[in-house]
Amino acid sequence: MTHTDRTTHTSPSPFVFRAAGPSDGAAVWRLVQATGALEPNTPYCYLLLVTDFGDTCLVAEQDGEVVGVVLGYHPPREPETAFVWQIGVMPALRGRGLGLRMLQAWMALPANAHCEWVTATVAEDNPASRALFGRLAATHQTRCEVLPHFLADQFPHEHPAEPLYRIGPLARGVPAHA
Ligand SMILES: CC(C)(COP(=O)(O)OP(=O)(O)OC[C@H]1O[C@@H](n2cnc3c(N)ncnc32)[C@H](O)[C@@H]1OP(=O)(O)O)[C@@H](O)C(=O)NCCC(=O)NCCS
Repeated sequence: MTHTDRTTHTSPSPFVFRAAGPSDGAAVWRLVQATGALEPNTPYCYLLLVTDFGDTCLVAEQDGEVVGVVLGYHPPREPETAFVWQIGVMPALRGRGLGLRMLQAWMALPANAHCEWVTATVAEDNPASRALFGRLAATHQTRCEVLPHFLADQFPHEHPAEPLYRIGPLARGVPAHA
């Protein structure tokens, strides 16, 4: 008896990128736990962030599930800067360009589109994060300056230093998929 393989090879569902809002707090907290690498904060902290700073936070969804986040804000004394506090991609989806696409979409959010600089602190023991922000600067043909910022001895427990990566200047109105 012959067997006809009716398996259909469908392409993966597309990612949907959008600004975060108050209803995303729980899913963002879960995603942070699932990354296994991001410092987990309380659910309240993420609720606060997506409620008060949702315009400068991005969620990436696939089939209605949150699979990536960029959590950021504008430092009060640097309104032309968009700061990335945490960025995470589900482990199964890493290394395929999603992190870079999320950053591009995050920079293109209406609240961030005017920013000339992107900053982030990157732990010295995080090569993926270093590579991601280096790639972002290269994609935009701009500089990535690394400056001392949070030193190891400023943390209350053992923690690697977190230098500040300062990317820019960026052309205003950065396209979402430059
Ligand atoms: C950091 C992170 C968001 C990157 O997301 P991603 O979707 O895997 O990144 P991309 O596929 O877009 O890759 C972007 C660049 O980083 C490089 N990269 C990705 N993972 C890497 C790794 N583990 N080691 C070295 N380089 C890496 C890619 O090669 C690419 O550079 P290239 O274009 O020059 O080759 C993801 O690894 C992650 O969620 N890590 C856990 C959470 C974390 O550490 N966040 C950062 C601190 S807030």
